[in-house]
Amino acid sequence: MLMLVLLVTVVVASAQNITKVLDGEPQFSSLNKLLSETGVADEINIRKSITVLAPDNSVLDPIVSNLRGKTSPEQLGDIVRYHVLLQYFDIPELRQIVDKGTTQVTTLYQATGRPAGILGFVNITKTKGGSLDVTTPAGEHPSSSTIVKSIKQIPYNMSIFQLSAVLMPVGVLTEATPPTPVPVPSPVTAPESAPALSPALSCSSCTCSNSSPYSCSSAYAFPYSCSSIKSTCSSI
Ligand SMILES: *[C@@H]1O[C@H](CO)[C@@H](O)[C@H](O)[C@H]1NC(C)=O
Ligand SMILES: *[C@@H]1O[C@H](CO)[C@@H](O)[C@H](O)[C@H]1NC(C)=O
Ligand SMILES: *[C@@H]1O[C@H](CO)[C@@H](O)[C@H](O)[C@H]1NC(C)=O
Repeated sequence: MLMLVLLVTVVVASAQNITKVLDGEPQFSSLNKLLSETGVADEINIRKSITVLAPDNSVLDPIVSNLRGKTSPEQLGDIVRYHVLLQYFDIPELRQIVDKGTTQVTTLYQATGRPAGILGFVNITKTKGGSLDVTTPAGEHPSSSTIVKSIKQIPYNMSIFQLSAVLMPVGVLTEATPPTPVPVPSPVTAPESAPALSPALSCSSCTCSNSSPYSCSSAYAFPYSCSSIKSTCSSI
Protein backbone atom coordinates (compact mmCIF):
# COMPACT_ATOMS: atom_id res chain seq x y z
CA MET A 1 0.00 0.00 0.00
CA LEU A 2 2.78 2.39 0.90
CA MET A 3 4.54 1.40 -2.31
CA LEU A 4 1.42 2.25 -4.28
CA VAL A 5 1.07 5.63 -2.60
CA LEU A 6 4.71 6.41 -3.31
CA LEU A 7 4.34 5.33 -6.92
CA VAL A 8 1.28 7.53 -7.45
CA THR A 9 3.04 10.47 -5.83
CA VAL A 10 6.01 10.05 -8.14
CA VAL A 11 3.83 9.85 -11.23
CA VAL A 12 1.89 12.99 -10.31
CA ALA A 13 5.05 14.86 -9.41
CA SER A 14 6.75 14.08 -12.72
CA ALA A 15 3.78 15.03 -14.89
CA GLN A 16 4.14 18.45 -16.39
CA ASN A 17 2.24 21.30 -14.84
CA ILE A 18 1.86 24.38 -17.01
CA THR A 19 0.32 26.30 -14.11
CA LYS A 20 3.39 25.76 -12.01
CA VAL A 21 5.76 26.65 -14.82
CA LEU A 22 3.90 29.88 -15.59
CA ASP A 23 3.71 30.75 -11.89
CA GLY A 24 7.36 31.66 -12.28
CA GLU A 25 6.60 34.03 -15.17
CA PRO A 26 4.49 36.90 -13.82
CA GLN A 27 4.22 38.66 -17.18
CA PHE A 28 2.10 35.71 -18.31
CA SER A 29 -0.15 35.54 -15.25
CA SER A 30 -3.26 36.41 -17.29
CA LEU A 31 -2.65 33.52 -19.65
CA ASN A 32 -1.98 31.30 -16.68
CA LYS A 33 -5.32 32.21 -15.12
CA LEU A 34 -7.11 31.72 -18.42
CA LEU A 35 -5.54 28.30 -18.92
CA SER A 36 -6.89 27.19 -15.55
CA GLU A 37 -10.28 28.83 -15.97
CA THR A 38 -10.91 27.21 -19.36
CA GLY A 39 -9.58 23.82 -18.29
CA VAL A 40 -6.96 23.98 -21.03
CA ALA A 41 -4.21 23.63 -18.41
CA ASP A 42 -5.44 20.11 -17.64
CA GLU A 43 -5.51 19.27 -21.34
CA ILE A 44 -1.92 20.48 -21.64
CA ASN A 45 -0.71 18.59 -18.61
CA ILE A 46 -1.75 15.20 -19.95
CA ARG A 47 0.14 15.78 -23.21
CA LYS A 48 3.75 14.75 -23.68
CA SER A 49 5.29 17.28 -26.04
CA ILE A 50 3.78 20.69 -26.47
CA THR A 51 4.69 24.26 -27.27
CA VAL A 52 2.70 27.13 -25.82
CA LEU A 53 2.64 30.41 -27.72
CA ALA A 54 2.12 32.93 -24.96
CA PRO A 55 0.87 36.49 -25.33
CA ASP A 56 1.91 38.49 -22.28
CA ASN A 57 -0.52 40.28 -19.96
CA SER A 58 -0.40 43.61 -21.79
CA VAL A 59 -1.40 41.88 -25.01
CA LEU A 60 -3.90 39.41 -23.62
CA ASP A 61 -5.80 41.48 -21.04
CA PRO A 62 -7.57 43.91 -23.39
CA ILE A 63 -8.51 41.12 -25.79
CA VAL A 64 -9.91 38.89 -23.10
CA SER A 65 -11.87 41.65 -21.38
CA ASN A 66 -13.40 42.46 -24.75
CA LEU A 67 -14.24 38.82 -25.40
CA ARG A 68 -15.89 38.25 -22.05
CA GLY A 69 -19.65 38.25 -22.40
CA LYS A 70 -19.34 37.83 -26.18
CA THR A 71 -17.94 34.33 -26.16
CA SER A 72 -19.04 31.06 -24.64
CA PRO A 73 -16.58 29.33 -22.32
CA GLU A 74 -16.00 26.86 -25.15
CA GLN A 75 -15.15 29.62 -27.63
CA LEU A 76 -12.79 31.28 -25.18
CA GLY A 77 -11.22 27.89 -24.51
CA ASP A 78 -10.79 27.29 -28.24
CA ILE A 79 -8.97 30.59 -28.65
CA VAL A 80 -6.64 29.53 -25.86
CA ARG A 81 -6.28 26.03 -27.36
CA TYR A 82 -5.22 27.62 -30.62
CA HIS A 83 -2.07 28.84 -28.84
CA VAL A 84 -0.99 25.33 -27.86
CA LEU A 85 1.02 23.46 -30.50
CA LEU A 86 0.97 19.67 -30.28
CA GLN A 87 4.69 19.45 -30.83
CA TYR A 88 7.74 20.38 -28.81
CA PHE A 89 9.84 23.06 -30.45
CA ASP A 90 13.05 24.50 -29.17
CA ILE A 91 14.83 27.31 -30.94
CA PRO A 92 17.03 25.16 -33.25
CA GLU A 93 14.01 23.07 -34.23
CA LEU A 94 11.99 26.15 -34.96
CA ARG A 95 14.80 27.52 -37.12
CA GLN A 96 15.00 24.25 -38.99
CA ILE A 97 11.32 24.06 -39.82
CA VAL A 98 11.05 27.65 -40.92
CA ASP A 99 14.05 27.35 -43.18
CA LYS A 100 11.85 25.07 -45.25
CA GLY A 101 9.40 27.91 -45.85
CA THR A 102 6.03 27.62 -44.21
CA THR A 103 5.34 24.82 -41.80
CA GLN A 104 1.86 23.91 -40.67
CA VAL A 105 1.55 22.79 -37.08
CA THR A 106 -1.43 21.20 -35.33
CA THR A 107 -2.89 22.94 -32.32
CA LEU A 108 -4.91 21.71 -29.38
CA TYR A 109 -7.92 23.42 -30.98
CA GLN A 110 -7.64 21.05 -33.97
CA ALA A 111 -7.63 18.14 -31.52
CA THR A 112 -11.16 19.07 -30.38
CA GLY A 113 -12.49 18.12 -33.82
CA ARG A 114 -14.41 21.39 -33.98
CA PRO A 115 -12.43 23.29 -36.61
CA ALA A 116 -13.32 22.72 -40.24
CA GLY A 117 -10.52 21.45 -42.46
CA ILE A 118 -7.16 22.91 -41.57
CA LEU A 119 -8.48 25.79 -39.49
CA GLY A 120 -7.04 24.28 -36.33
CA PHE A 121 -3.52 24.55 -37.71
CA VAL A 122 -1.13 27.48 -37.60
CA ASN A 123 1.37 28.39 -40.28
CA ILE A 124 4.83 29.26 -39.06
CA THR A 125 6.84 31.23 -41.59
CA LYS A 126 10.16 32.97 -41.50
CA THR A 127 9.85 36.45 -42.95
CA LYS A 128 12.51 38.09 -45.09
CA GLY A 129 13.44 40.15 -42.07
CA GLY A 130 14.14 36.96 -40.15
CA SER A 131 11.26 37.05 -37.72
CA LEU A 132 9.02 34.03 -37.20
CA ASP A 133 5.42 34.73 -38.05
CA VAL A 134 2.57 32.59 -36.84
CA THR A 135 -0.62 32.95 -38.84
CA THR A 136 -4.00 31.35 -39.25
CA PRO A 137 -3.83 29.16 -42.37
CA ALA A 138 -6.83 30.57 -44.20
CA GLY A 139 -9.60 33.09 -44.05
CA GLU A 140 -10.20 36.51 -45.45
CA HIS A 141 -8.26 38.31 -42.74
CA PRO A 142 -5.70 35.89 -41.41
CA SER A 143 -4.71 36.64 -37.86
CA SER A 144 -0.98 37.09 -37.57
CA SER A 145 1.60 37.29 -34.85
CA THR A 146 5.32 37.04 -34.32
CA ILE A 147 7.36 34.87 -32.00
CA VAL A 148 9.15 37.34 -29.72
CA LYS A 149 11.43 35.15 -27.66
CA SER A 150 11.84 31.91 -25.83
CA ILE A 151 10.46 31.88 -22.29
CA LYS A 152 11.02 28.33 -21.12
CA GLN A 153 12.24 25.05 -22.50
CA ILE A 154 11.75 21.76 -20.69
CA PRO A 155 13.05 19.20 -23.20
CA TYR A 156 11.16 17.49 -24.70
CA ASN A 157 7.98 18.05 -22.74
CA MET A 158 7.09 21.69 -22.76
CA SER A 159 8.28 24.77 -24.53
CA ILE A 160 6.97 28.30 -24.11
CA PHE A 161 7.52 31.17 -26.52
CA GLN A 162 6.26 34.69 -26.15
CA LEU A 163 3.89 35.71 -28.95
CA SER A 164 3.40 39.35 -30.00
CA ALA A 165 -0.38 39.16 -30.44
CA VAL A 166 -3.38 36.98 -29.81
CA LEU A 167 -4.24 34.64 -32.69
CA MET A 168 -7.91 34.39 -33.53
CA PRO A 169 -8.69 30.99 -35.03
CA VAL A 170 -10.93 31.34 -38.06
CA GLY A 171 -14.43 30.08 -37.37
CA VAL A 172 -14.51 30.45 -33.61
CA LEU A 173 -15.99 33.93 -33.60
CA THR A 174 -17.37 33.95 -37.11
CA GLU A 175 -20.47 35.92 -36.21
CA ALA A 176 -18.66 38.40 -34.02
CA THR A 177 -16.07 39.23 -36.64
CA PRO A 178 -17.54 40.59 -39.86
CA PRO A 179 -14.82 41.07 -42.44
CA THR A 180 -13.58 44.63 -42.43
CA PRO A 181 -11.58 46.34 -45.12
CA VAL A 182 -8.04 46.65 -43.90
CA PRO A 183 -6.08 49.72 -44.95
CA VAL A 184 -3.10 49.00 -47.11
CA PRO A 185 0.13 50.77 -46.14
CA SER A 186 0.92 53.61 -48.48
CA PRO A 187 3.74 52.61 -50.81
CA VAL A 188 4.93 56.23 -50.72
CA THR A 189 5.83 56.06 -47.05
CA ALA A 190 7.35 52.59 -47.22
CA PRO A 191 11.06 52.58 -48.05
CA GLU A 192 11.82 50.22 -50.93
CA SER A 193 14.17 48.10 -48.94
CA ALA A 194 11.97 48.03 -45.87
CA PRO A 195 12.64 45.03 -43.70
CA ALA A 196 9.76 42.67 -43.01
CA LEU A 197 7.13 44.09 -40.74
CA SER A 198 7.93 43.80 -37.12
CA PRO A 199 5.62 44.41 -34.19
CA ALA A 200 7.43 47.67 -33.56
CA LEU A 201 6.48 48.94 -37.00
CA SER A 202 2.90 47.83 -36.88
CA CYS A 203 1.56 50.60 -34.72
CA SER A 204 2.92 53.42 -36.81
CA SER A 205 0.97 52.15 -39.76
CA CYS A 206 -2.47 52.12 -38.30
CA THR A 207 -4.52 53.32 -35.39
CA CYS A 208 -7.51 51.69 -33.86
CA SER A 209 -10.18 54.26 -33.35
CA ASN A 210 -12.64 54.11 -30.51
CA SER A 211 -10.65 51.29 -29.09
CA SER A 212 -9.01 52.28 -25.85
CA PRO A 213 -7.33 50.34 -24.29
CA TYR A 214 -6.59 48.57 -27.57
CA SER A 215 -3.55 49.36 -29.57
CA CYS A 216 -2.48 48.03 -32.92
CA SER A 217 0.69 46.43 -31.79
CA SER A 218 -0.82 44.66 -28.85
CA ALA A 219 -4.03 43.54 -30.49
CA TYR A 220 -3.07 42.24 -33.89
CA ALA A 221 -0.02 42.51 -35.99
CA PHE A 222 -0.28 44.77 -38.99
CA PRO A 223 -1.94 44.62 -41.52
CA TYR A 224 -4.69 42.79 -39.74
CA SER A 225 -4.70 45.13 -36.80
CA CYS A 226 -8.00 45.35 -35.03
CA SER A 227 -9.84 43.68 -37.86
CA SER A 228 -11.03 40.68 -35.97
CA ILE A 229 -12.47 42.26 -32.87
CA LYS A 230 -12.42 46.00 -33.12
CA SER A 231 -13.54 46.64 -36.61
CA THR A 232 -12.42 50.19 -37.22
CA CYS A 233 -8.91 50.69 -38.37
CA SER A 234 -7.79 53.90 -39.99
CA SER A 235 -4.61 54.92 -41.69
CA ILE A 236 -2.52 57.73 -40.29
C1 LIG B 1 9.16 15.03 -19.07
O1 LIG B 1 8.01 14.21 -18.94
C2 LIG B 1 8.30 12.90 -18.50
C3 LIG B 1 7.02 12.10 -18.53
O2 LIG B 1 5.90 12.86 -18.17
C4 LIG B 1 8.93 12.99 -17.11
O3 LIG B 1 9.26 11.70 -16.67
C5 LIG B 1 10.17 13.84 -17.17
O4 LIG B 1 10.70 14.00 -15.88
C6 LIG B 1 9.86 15.18 -17.76
N1 LIG B 1 11.09 15.94 -17.94
C7 LIG B 1 11.31 17.10 -17.34
C8 LIG B 1 12.64 17.73 -17.62
O5 LIG B 1 10.49 17.63 -16.62
C1 LIG C 1 -0.04 22.46 -10.69
O1 LIG C 1 0.56 23.54 -10.02
C2 LIG C 1 -0.36 24.36 -9.33
C3 LIG C 1 0.41 25.58 -8.81
O2 LIG C 1 1.63 25.21 -8.25
C4 LIG C 1 -1.05 23.58 -8.25
O3 LIG C 1 -1.98 24.39 -7.57
C5 LIG C 1 -1.77 22.41 -8.89
O4 LIG C 1 -2.35 21.58 -7.91
C6 LIG C 1 -0.81 21.57 -9.74
N1 LIG C 1 -1.56 20.58 -10.48
C7 LIG C 1 -1.21 19.30 -10.49
C8 LIG C 1 -2.08 18.41 -11.32
O5 LIG C 1 -0.27 18.88 -9.88
C1 LIG D 1 -0.49 28.10 -44.80
O1 LIG D 1 0.28 27.02 -45.25
C2 LIG D 1 -0.36 26.22 -46.23
C3 LIG D 1 0.55 25.05 -46.53
O2 LIG D 1 1.89 25.43 -46.68
C4 LIG D 1 -0.65 27.07 -47.45
O3 LIG D 1 -1.34 26.30 -48.41
C5 LIG D 1 -1.51 28.25 -47.04
O4 LIG D 1 -1.72 29.09 -48.14
C6 LIG D 1 -0.83 29.02 -45.94
N1 LIG D 1 -1.73 30.09 -45.51
C7 LIG D 1 -1.34 31.36 -45.41
C8 LIG D 1 -2.37 32.32 -44.96
O5 LIG D 1 -0.21 31.72 -45.67
